[in-house]
Amino acid sequence: MNIEKRLFIISNRLPVNIKEKDNDTIIKSSSGGLVSAVKSYANYTQDKEGSSFSQIYWVGVPGCSKTAWEKLSRTIQSEYTLLPVFMKSSIYEGYYSGMSNSVIWPLFHYFPTYAEYKPSYFENYMAANEEFVKVLLQNIRPNDIIWIHDYHLLPLAKLIREAMPEITIGFFLHIPFPSFELFKLIPEKWQLAMLEGMLGADLIGFHTIDYAAHFLKSIQMAMGVENDQNLIKYNNRLIKADVFPISIDYKKFNDAYDNPAIAEKRNFYREQFKDIKIIFSVDRLDYTKCIMCRLRGYEQFLINYPQYAGKIVFILSIVPSRDNISNYAKRKREIDEFVGNINGRIGTLTWKPVNYKYESLEFNDMMALYTVCDIALITPLRDGMNLVAKEFVASRKDKQGILLLSEMTGAAREFKDAVLINPNDFKGIGDAINMALQMSPQEQEQRMIQMQTRVKDYDVLAWADDFFDQLRKIKKKQQEFEFIFLDYPTKIKLLEVYRKSPKRLLLLDYDGTLVSFNKNPDRVEPPKNVLDALQKLADDDKNDIYVISGRDSETLSKWLGHINIGLVAEHGAKMKKKNGEWNKQTEEVLDETAKETLRKIMKYFVKRTANSFIEEKEYSFVWHYRNSNQDQAKLRASELLTELSGYADILNIQVMQGNKIIEARVKGMNKGAITKKLLLDNNYGFILACGDDNTDENMFKVLQKNKNAFTIKIGDSSSYARYNIFTPQMCVSLLEYLGTS
Ligand code: UDP
Ligand code: G6P
Repeated sequence: MNIEKRLFIISNRLPVNIKEKDNDTIIKSSSGGLVSAVKSYANYTQDKEGSSFSQIYWVGVPGCSKTAWEKLSRTIQSEYTLLPVFMKSSIYEGYYSGMSNSVIWPLFHYFPTYAEYKPSYFENYMAANEEFVKVLLQNIRPNDIIWIHDYHLLPLAKLIREAMPEITIGFFLHIPFPSFELFKLIPEKWQLAMLEGMLGADLIGFHTIDYAAHFLKSIQMAMGVENDQNLIKYNNRLIKADVFPISIDYKKFNDAYDNPAIAEKRNFYREQFKDIKIIFSVDRLDYTKCIMCRLRGYEQFLINYPQYAGKIVFILSIVPSRDNISNYAKRKREIDEFVGNINGRIGTLTWKPVNYKYESLEFNDMMALYTVCDIALITPLRDGMNLVAKEFVASRKDKQGILLLSEMTGAAREFKDAVLINPNDFKGIGDAINMALQMSPQEQEQRMIQMQTRVKDYDVLAWADDFFDQLRKIKKKQQEFEFIFLDYPTKIKLLEVYRKSPKRLLLLDYDGTLVSFNKNPDRVEPPKNVLDALQKLADDDKNDIYVISGRDSETLSKWLGHINIGLVAEHGAKMKKKNGEWNKQTEEVLDETAKETLRKIMKYFVKRTANSFIEEKEYSFVWHYRNSNQDQAKLRASELLTELSGYADILNIQVMQGNKIIEARVKGMNKGAITKKLLLDNNYGFILACGDDNTDENMFKVLQKNKNAFTIKIGDSSSYARYNIFTPQMCVSLLEYLGTS
């Protein structure tokens, strides 16, 4: 990446938080995984010689008034420029406590019953995002890199892009993205603001493959936007959704083990808890972390393994968070009571089983506790990643200690050597604690080495580098994918290559390419000028011409069989070479059971959608909705798509959304596969491929790197094709032009 680039990090919070209380101000480091990880990266890259960025800015809310900020900001030491965003407190309340933390946070963490859909939340959410845009537009330039973080700012990328269409934007979601079943609980207008907002970015990052898949499904279902191997074509832009499991600064945590101040604190705790096993956990007070799960599990352990009475302590450190939201305040009371109860009921005068602290931890204290404990106990019901788990692992330079980790965390995907637990299985947690306490130092070491290797190999720097690398690649791909009109000089060049080539291959889609769409698909017989143009080209022995269509073989034979050209039916399932007979190109079939099931499902949709109809072919069934009321039909189309997708494996079909159609066809057939086959027939010096629909993209992709190929998309949408022309008439003129030269 270019050294001259400036990086703008944008998150709800700045890395520092200023609290104003009783005429006093307190400056604190912001807590949470986002700030921890991004700050590590920003600190590192700003210091680094040959850094990828000439300057780093961090944009976010400072937690205080403009006056306090102006007074204090000069005293804040920061390696990068902090740009504060201020807004009315009523807007901030609706945006932060409302939409962000009482709608998106609970829903995306699979707590739908905690979500409250107040219209004012959404209005304030959008208004707050606009406040971010205002600050940004005063500072950014088209050449900058914008890196947006997390669920508070889902609509932001789109808003920035509207003002600066060419700018590079990466978005990273630090929390899970839920399955569409949950996402669709959000009012539709809000859904669109979030999804369209995210699609304003060039690259959209998630922690795990499941979250990315859920997002892709949601844009398909809510917006009808398809993807091809995580590449999304939307509003004439190419966007990528990808997976980047966030991480930590491994070296910082590993080196800290030997820091004398930390070693001293560690020894202090060791002395204080002499011959006592230590379980440790640290979290923000959040219901997703299920602190009650670990307390209940620990209680089970104390009941079922009474031999540990007096010989174990659970150091439970809870960082205050979002305490003006009722669901958070409620948890606090519940935990207070439960801890009091365990200590009173199971503890003794000289032994307190739970040692509980409700305040944030200084780095050195946290490190001392990470490195002194025997077990780290982490039990979220859902967690995008969970950096505490990674920090604990990295800090254990002694290679001892056991990680008890909920299988519901993103981190569990990477840590197969942790002891994985189900947070709802309290007895199971108790047994796992007992098992961990029995684990030999050798086994602890083996497991720790495996986990450390993972964190070391993909630390926060690797995470960010990977993200920026993909961002650069998608920008490059966008340029390849750009809409380039087939202009006169290119036409001349095309003609020159055509003339010079002893063997030429012409691949032509039918509907939307050689003829325009019609309300009735049976009424699009080729007009005389199309037949003439094809005939002329077919008269030249140097040409191998194929009309390569989704239509069935019977229709193609009827309309084009009298011309000496090749025909490919049903997206490549059947082919007839010039002068030849129809041949099957696949062993797959749509058997009678599959046909019956598809017929039944599609008939039901025909009944529910006036003026739609079914086209039955040998290898596929198509539901057409071109003539229906489009609003209603689009909704039905997405329902049909989901329903048929559920049958994909059972019926051995692939389901596609095309131009006002939903098609279910046998697996494995597409225009790309047949193009590859045809390329083997000859060493073609000239290849022309023309098509208008999604299904033609497979053909364009196969030819993308072929230097003899001219690929042309009919219509004005972006494509893998190298050129665009606007209408089928223009495509036919091009063929006439070749035929007469
Ligand atoms: N942390 C913090 N202040 C504290 C204790 C912990 O900022 O007093 C940090 C901790 O080091 C970790 C982050 O908060 O980096 C928690 O990240 P995690 O992904 O585990 O959970 P999140 O809070 O982001 O949901
Ligand atoms: C999680 C979120 C962050 C958030 C952090 C702390 O890590 O993904 O966006 O900053 O929690 O929460 P808070 O509401 O205090 O910013």
